[in-house]
Amino acid sequence: MLLQTQRLILRNFKDCDLDIFVSYRNDPEVAKYQGWGLPYPREKGEKFITSMKDKFALKQADWIQYAIALKDTDELIGDLGCYVRKDDARQAKIGYTIASKHWRKGYATEVIPFILEYLFEDMDMHRVAADCDSENVASYRTLEKLGFRREAYFVESFLVNGVYTSEYHYGMLQREWREKNQR
Ligand SMILES: CC(C)(COP(=O)(O)OP(=O)(O)OC[C@H]1O[C@@H](n2cnc3c(N)ncnc32)[C@H](O)[C@@H]1OP(=O)(O)O)[C@@H](O)C(=O)NCCC(=O)NCCS
Repeated sequence: MLLQTQRLILRNFKDCDLDIFVSYRNDPEVAKYQGWGLPYPREKGEKFITSMKDKFALKQADWIQYAIALKDTDELIGDLGCYVRKDDARQAKIGYTIASKHWRKGYATEVIPFILEYLFEDMDMHRVAADCDSENVASYRTLEKLGFRREAYFVESFLVNGVYTSEYHYGMLQREWREKNQR
């Protein structure tokens, strides 16, 4: 286990997460603004879990996806990814998904600060970025609620399922995180 919040744990993926993982990756509502494309095959899910289940340390130019699970039952409810830039070991990016049946219960807002704490305090990141489709209200509201600053709007910059979509880019600096958290 990486860390725990009041209701959630952040841990490595396990083989037994496969059914739920493939199921939410295939949910059109969840996949709407994501680049993985539908259908999302079970074999791809198996490969994904195999590639993630023993991965702990952040490495440059590499994504790590952690499983988000309910603390009481260990049921998988989503995932949280971190990427460290190839050209700068003190700049990271995050990405997140919650299965739709668990939306709007405050889970994203509960778990993301813990990964930010880890990135800014344990890993000494200077800056953490996140981007989302400009129509993904849930995602940008979550980022703004957490204190991320909208820094850019890229018009029709990202190809999803044959359609060019627009993106917002967000960022937060270590000193802003510390100020917000009174460190
Ligand atoms: C984005 C996502 C992770 C949010 O997860 P969540 O656990 O439902 O979010 P929270 O409950 O913590 O809500 C955070 C804020 O966003 C708002 N929000 C969440 N979903 C919303 C929606 N559909 N429409 C408008 N606001 C929404 C909440 O109201 C809350 O703000 P508030 O407390 O001020 O009301 C989830 O919607 C998701 O997984 N979406 C699909 C995958 C995805 O698009 N990921 C982001 C890729 S960039």
